[in-house]
Amino acid sequence: MIKLDARLSAVASLVREGVRVADIGTDHAYLVAYLIKKGICPCGIAADLRKGPLENAKQTVIDEGLSDKVELILSDGLQNIEDNSCDDIVIAGMGGNLIAEILSKAQWIKNENINIVAQPMTHAEVLRQFFIDNGFEITKEKTATDGRHYYCIMSAHYVGTNKKHDISYIYTGQLFESSDEITYRYIEKMLTTLKKKHSALIIAGKPDEENLGRIIDEIKNNMEKTEWLL
Ligand SMILES: C[S@@+](CC[C@H](N)C(=O)[O-])C[C@H]1O[C@@H](n2cnc3c(N)ncnc32)[C@H](O)[C@@H]1O
Repeated sequence: MIKLDARLSAVASLVREGVRVADIGTDHAYLVAYLIKKGICPCGIAADLRKGPLENAKQTVIDEGLSDKVELILSDGLQNIEDNSCDDIVIAGMGGNLIAEILSKAQWIKNENINIVAQPMTHAEVLRQFFIDNGFEITKEKTATDGRHYYCIMSAHYVGTNKKHDISYIYTGQLFESSDEITYRYIEKMLTTLKKKHSALIIAGKPDEENLGRIIDEIKNNMEKTEWLL
């Protein structure tokens, strides 16, 4: 039985039960194989930009006896994924900029019935900004750690309206809905990075065009208001 690490387990937990899943940038297809073997998804698509990773995926699918349940597709992002061929779309392990770019090229995902599960390795704020600007609502966020790195995972779906949010929302999204220690550490780490960036601006005498000072204050305030389970 395939075992997922903490990061991919958190990704899997945001995929809905009983739906057709498409994993974009699948590499070994561990996620899709796990979701089907666990009975969470009846079938799925494992897609990747490159032939090598898709070969890895094929091997997993054969080893797990899932050839009749997993479609392997060579695809740049969602380009070769047919509209209406999946309900949940997973894009994990790529930068937030690339995930946003992939999503921006597929208009058919602007469908309220499609659940997007994204796990940006970097620049989660770019992805949240994309969701906000394009009429998507972030429904849930989770964090995970492998002991060295901290990850955030989010699910979103199209609602067609651009809701107003606090200025710090692109950095913390729905994370304050959770009060667990990993989320606390994730936000603490992010605050340290933002403070360093802000201090560097001040020392260089540059304007704070991204409003980092205000963003830091808002995040600190929300940290204090949250009852953390540490
Ligand atoms: C770091 S691996 C992540 C694998 C897996 N999703 C995970 O989270 O463990 C990134 C994978 O994304 C694929 N990839 C990169 N850009 C892509 C794109 N534009 N479309 C589809 N796959 C892409 C790479 O070939 C690689 O297999």
